[in-house]
Amino acid sequence: MKNFISVNDVTDIHALVAKALAYKSNPFADRHLGADKRVGLLFLNPSLRTRLSTQVAAANLGMEAIVFNVDKEGWALEFAEGAIMNGTTVEHIKDAAPVLGNYFDILCIRTFPSLKNREEDYSEQVINSFVKFSGVPIVSLESATLHPLQSLTDIVTIVESLNNSPLGVGGRKPKIVLTWAPHVKALPQCVANSFAQWINAWGEAEFVITHPEGYELSTDYTNGATITHNQDEALKDADFIYVKNWSSYADYGKVYNNDQAWMLTQEKLQPTNNAKVMHCLPVRRNVELSDEVLDSNNSIVTQEAGNRVWAAQAVLSEIIGSRF
Ligand code: CP
Repeated sequence: MKNFISVNDVTDIHALVAKALAYKSNPFADRHLGADKRVGLLFLNPSLRTRLSTQVAAANLGMEAIVFNVDKEGWALEFAEGAIMNGTTVEHIKDAAPVLGNYFDILCIRTFPSLKNREEDYSEQVINSFVKFSGVPIVSLESATLHPLQSLTDIVTIVESLNNSPLGVGGRKPKIVLTWAPHVKALPQCVANSFAQWINAWGEAEFVITHPEGYELSTDYTNGATITHNQDEALKDADFIYVKNWSSYADYGKVYNNDQAWMLTQEKLQPTNNAKVMHCLPVRRNVELSDEVLDSNNSIVTQEAGNRVWAAQAVLSEIIGSRF
């Protein structure tokens, strides 16, 4: 694996999921694999899970991880080609990225979209600039349009749950429902895009996406899924429900329906197949998901967040193994 930006960087999803679960069983199996290697974790936006789980994953591989909060501690970076830098940006990515590539063996980047200019956000200028100019492997810790480490974790968590359930892998395909949920602010489409892209590529589920009209995601990611505006219909017989808010893709970054009726409640779980409920976290309690769902046995959000370590460890291990 050269970079980890999207599911397209993965040759065998099943093998990567199995590797992550093997690390969960034996975290220190490759404790020396990353010896004498350094990974730089660059944050242009906040994080709890991604930052700490990747640090733990690196430590489990014997690798040193150094965190740099670029947004708070670094120079303001310029990404535009040919920019006349007489404004607020101080250092061009063409100059900064090769320096960082000298300090680190792998660079991991978190960057959010502006939600103002769709073309710009969907060009993935920030992460692609690091790929172009750093000279070292790049791992996305969430980019403008995708969150691949989260999506790998989500499939790891689904497979783990299936392995412990009568349904099991190899039985009928589980019904997985991605449902839009209300929120207090406009959020990116990246978690939903990425989840759809990975579930479609995985190919082991009956996959349904439900959202109010106007929240259609890019078909680049959703092709292959059944899409409906009827949440009750979508949730019928669901085995897994993935709850997430996103702002409009068509009317980019806009929020024009925040209908509380879309919040996932205990009542909505009744017609499901005792569905497991997932969310990437952080979650707005009693806005996106009710307390009673989050505090019930149906919720696997803590297990899911815990699995971020094993997904990150599998990815770092693949990159180290193929590169060094
Ligand atoms: N799910 C996720 O990416 O969490 P953080 O934003 O806390 O890293």
